[in-house]
Amino acid sequence: MQTKTWLIALSALALTAMGTSGLAASNKGVIHKVPAVKGTMLGKHLFLPRMDPRKGKMLFASKGCVTCHSINGVGGDDAPHLDAKTMPKVMNPFDFVAKMWRAAPAMIAAQNDELGHQILFTGQELADIIAFVHDPKTQKTFTLNDVPEKVRAKIMSDDEDMSGMKKDEDKKDDKKKSSD
Ligand code: HEC
Repeated sequence: MQTKTWLIALSALALTAMGTSGLAASNKGVIHKVPAVKGTMLGKHLFLPRMDPRKGKMLFASKGCVTCHSINGVGGDDAPHLDAKTMPKVMNPFDFVAKMWRAAPAMIAAQNDELGHQILFTGQELADIIAFVHDPKTQKTFTLNDVPEKVRAKIMSDDEDMSGMKKDEDKKDDKKKSSD
């Protein structure tokens, strides 16, 4: 029994040692077993997260991007729409971040205005959102039902604010507007 316990403890130690010599084991986004990419920092001190467009779809809605940006015709219209079909066919995800950075002053001001705060996210969350923005297949499944009630109400009031006149479809949807 005792030797068995020791063996287990030892192999656990060995695994831990392997983990720390490779990639940060605590980070769930790490693509394990990917060898270091020669001539790059990847696999050594940097990794690329797994990018999940379905998670990105939920985040695009719940984080409130949808308040101002539309995808598949769902969302606000006071910012450029983010439909995949209008994105570059192949894109470096950092270029998306660079675009966001360029737009940051206007976007953060608008977020403070419309949402009362700046939207924050982790690297993993942003990676998932970027995956969604570039995945036409997942975008086709995006409907108003994916947008939490509270955020949905914000889209409606944005339309009101930005265009000065409310569309009839929006009025119908307003029944669902929450009171808070
Ligand atoms: C309150 C409104 C608002 C919210 C919420 C918002 N944005 Fe924006 N966003 C804007 C505006 C306005 C611009 C255009 C700014 C400009 O052109 O200077 C913009 C620009 C961008 C651009 C650059 C588009 C281009 O073609 O250059 C990207 C990318 C972007 N936003 C992504 C996001 C993402 C992702 C989220 C959610 C995490 C988000 N935005 C949330 C208002 C918003």
